[in-house]
Amino acid sequence: MQKTLKKHGTWIGKWTFVLAATGSAVGLGNIWGFPYKAGTEGGAAFVLIYLLCIVAIGVPIMISEILIGRRSGNSPINAMKKSAIDSGASSLWQLVGWTGIIAGVLILSFYSVIAGICLNYIFIAASPNELITSSEQFGQVISSPTNLLIWHTVFMFLTLLIVSAGVEDGIGRMVKILMPLLGFLLLFMVIYGAINGAFLEALSFLFAPDFSNVGTDTFLSAMGQAFFSMSLGMGSIMAYGAYMPKEQEIVSTSFSVGSLDTLVAILAGLAIFPIIFAFNLEPGSGPGLVFVSLLSAFNQMEFGQLIGPIFFILLSIAALSSSISILEPGVAYLAEEEFLTRKQSAIVISILCWVIGIGTATGFNIFSVVDSSGESINPFLNTMELISVQILQPLGGMLIAIFIGWFMNESLIKNEIPQINPFLYSLWRFFIKYVAPLSVAFIFISQII
Ligand code: TRP
Repeated sequence: MQKTLKKHGTWIGKWTFVLAATGSAVGLGNIWGFPYKAGTEGGAAFVLIYLLCIVAIGVPIMISEILIGRRSGNSPINAMKKSAIDSGASSLWQLVGWTGIIAGVLILSFYSVIAGICLNYIFIAASPNELITSSEQFGQVISSPTNLLIWHTVFMFLTLLIVSAGVEDGIGRMVKILMPLLGFLLLFMVIYGAINGAFLEALSFLFAPDFSNVGTDTFLSAMGQAFFSMSLGMGSIMAYGAYMPKEQEIVSTSFSVGSLDTLVAILAGLAIFPIIFAFNLEPGSGPGLVFVSLLSAFNQMEFGQLIGPIFFILLSIAALSSSISILEPGVAYLAEEEFLTRKQSAIVISILCWVIGIGTATGFNIFSVVDSSGESINPFLNTMELISVQILQPLGGMLIAIFIGWFMNESLIKNEIPQINPFLYSLWRFFIKYVAPLSVAFIFISQII
């Protein structure tokens, strides 16, 4: 006998799931992470591998997560458990939900620090400092632990507020207006870069691959980025899927979310690199890339003091619509088991993320180290990212793929996607059974040896 769990709400309206899932997917990973990783990992070769990961691994797993979430209507831990029990498989599959929650806490701990920097930049961009360059400005921002901690606290608090209020109405309405606005501003930045920046150089950097420097690291990093950007392998999408109405079509929705997510990442690259090359900045400069390059563009453009803050407001909102989806799986679990109320659950998990985030905030200054090439790095942030984004997320995704491909009862699967075209169905089965798990395994193994 499975016990009854407390019910959650359902997304109201046809578009809310798409918007919420796109809100989850589009975030710092697209606008901050993708360009700087493309920069440090050598440009177009990375971009190509990234796109491959999205198509071959990302979209098939997104379909699986939504499907498992929706058929149960519960948090990822219980969704996995239910689907496993209903298929006659071991209830230990729920461990996938648990590793997702651990990954989520680690991810949110640093996500909030970076998003805090975005919040801080709203004010920095509104009052440009003529005396220092934008890279010195970024240096100043991250050299103060107090400053980073204050903004980390503000961001964590905003995330907590929204999640404890429930995701249905507020978020749906918020993303509907703000996501298109973000897209519009991003397009504006791309046009600005095309007119005033080194656009051709940026194009060849992003799209003319040079595989000479591609190593197994590049694959791991591109795969981690794809998982991160599509919010996969830790339960965000599964949790949101649980609130998706039954009549909505899972497969085409997954394609839309995946395409929008990829489009925003590419546009962010096309907005940023023309400026980087025009100002002779270093494309491989790391996490400060977006803050440094965009601020210098805003400082020089007409109305920059207006457009700059608007851009960082939207970036912060994109981050917020993602961070809530990172917090949601754990909160939904504690609330549906009635261990705590939704609000209490959100508070407990947020405090945990906040405390771990201190490591990232101080890793930029007090505990930063200088690597062999003289760059200063944040060892705590790098470790958190390695464990959560490069290991736990792909591992979670691989297990979800193995579960749905090999263990879940096919009639349960077909119930959720009744209208699917048979060819598309076989294609998806092939990718989820073989391609996705084997590519993740292959990339892991090549890392170890
Ligand atoms: N995808 C978001 C981004 O690109 C971040 C995010 C939301 C996420 N939910 C997630 C990352 C779950 C990993 C796992 O910024």
